[in-house]
Amino acid sequence: MSALHHETSEITAIILKAAERARRETSNEPEAAFVNRAVNWPVACEVGPGLEGAIACESKVGYVNGTKGWLVYRGYDIFDLCAYSTFEEVSYLLIHGTLPTAAQLRDFNRRLVGYRHLPWTLSRMMSFPVKEFNAMAGLRLGVSMMRQRLTYRDSESARPEPATAIGTDEDSIPMEVRPYGEEHAKYEFGPGKAERPEDARKTQDAAFGLEACCHLISGLATITAAVARLREEKLPLEPDPELSHAANFLYMMTGRRPTPLEERIMDVALILHADHGMNASTFACMVVASTLSDIYWAVGSGISALNGPLHGGANEMVVRTLQEIGSPKRVNAWFNRARARKQRVMGFGHRVYKAYDPRARVLGPLAEYLARTSKPAGRLYGVARALEDKVIAELGHSRKIFPNVDFFSGIVYTALGIDPGMFTPCFAVSRVSGWTARTMEYLENNRIFRPRAMYTGDMNLRYVPVRKRSGKE
Ligand code: SDX
Repeated sequence: MSALHHETSEITAIILKAAERARRETSNEPEAAFVNRAVNWPVACEVGPGLEGAIACESKVGYVNGTKGWLVYRGYDIFDLCAYSTFEEVSYLLIHGTLPTAAQLRDFNRRLVGYRHLPWTLSRMMSFPVKEFNAMAGLRLGVSMMRQRLTYRDSESARPEPATAIGTDEDSIPMEVRPYGEEHAKYEFGPGKAERPEDARKTQDAAFGLEACCHLISGLATITAAVARLREEKLPLEPDPELSHAANFLYMMTGRRPTPLEERIMDVALILHADHGMNASTFACMVVASTLSDIYWAVGSGISALNGPLHGGANEMVVRTLQEIGSPKRVNAWFNRARARKQRVMGFGHRVYKAYDPRARVLGPLAEYLARTSKPAGRLYGVARALEDKVIAELGHSRKIFPNVDFFSGIVYTALGIDPGMFTPCFAVSRVSGWTARTMEYLENNRIFRPRAMYTGDMNLRYVPVRKRSGKE
């Protein structure tokens, strides 16, 4: 156990208590069927609008049990990872599939620390009016700059051979060829292809390999912190190589080295947000990478998707809702007005969880712990618990609408001194590990994503020249 875990054993106790409560409250829920063997494609599944229910691929990276409200990364329960692991170790686990040995973790950490320092990227970012940007737009700008720095993908010599992607079109039968084509439709960038200049192969790996993952995992933290500082009209801070990922991120964001407790809670928040199945932003990353665009652009699309208030953008709106309500005794009136307007309550509901989100089970008690010493968080926390009681009473058991990961995360970040405008970038700083892990996994058996639409328009219409068309001018 690390020195930090020793120093913050009360946080471990809070997490283990949440785990025990989760197991107690979900023990009678049915076990969802899940496979742990190769899938025999094609598979039959019932698909709704927005690909609801669609099975897009197989994965070993993570598993979400929506009825029980369980989350598993590479076979490890999220509560155990929060209690005993670190974000660096969990990022290694997601990408490599196993917990690292001490030597592997040291090497991985060395790579991450090395990529914290992005002077070339930040200096070019600062030539833009980042202060006026939406924070996620600043993050996306920074990732584009990072890509420029580490890869030369735009030079023709580095571009891969045109992919032999097998796609279906709207009119074809759904499975015109066996999945994966006659032979395995793999995209090898290795010696199998015609010899290419050395740097092309290097940049190929640079745009897809482990180095790119480490560059992005570290870089998003550095860029998010720089965006936060620039929005306050302050210069970005140099990273501190002696600090952990969570501590350095907080330090570069706030200009203050965090206490061990703040560092630990930030680390737990990063672990909780790291991966979550085929959520919209992860799927966006995979779709972009499946076209053989590179992992930097893939992560840029993940940032764009995460920005939406139905996805990652909800945590900032939760805090604004709690501030608008203002006090626990005003929750009922606010809720009734919101329901009358058919307004969704931000931070509640989930496409998969029809139970209490296990991440909220950890973030809630951590918010309570921080609220004891942070006045801003204290004011929010009291309203949050009253709103939670009201929503669960009205919508929980009848509509399976419970708090999700975004409901308490904003209170935790507020207590850590983070501005609400930076909450969603904090989500991206963590989720980049899941984005890169799932993208790398998918590219091992890549197949360009190309779903179909049900055509419900007209057919066989006769063309009428514009001079003969009636109707408004
Ligand atoms: C994240 O996919 C992931 O894993 C995402 C995520 C991750 O880690 O990547 O977990 C992170 O995105 C968390 C969700 C953050 N978003 C919010 O908190 C925004 C508020 N919640 C929602 O808008 C909604 O619950 C979704 C988008 C999260 C899920 O929506 P679904 O599954 O598409 O459900 P739906 O829109 O079909 O709603 C079903 C019914 C509707 O009622 P009717 O129109 O049928 O009468 O439930 C109602 C909805 O109005 N409903 C809500 C509600 N969420 C759903 N009613 C009130 N408040 C809500 N929050």
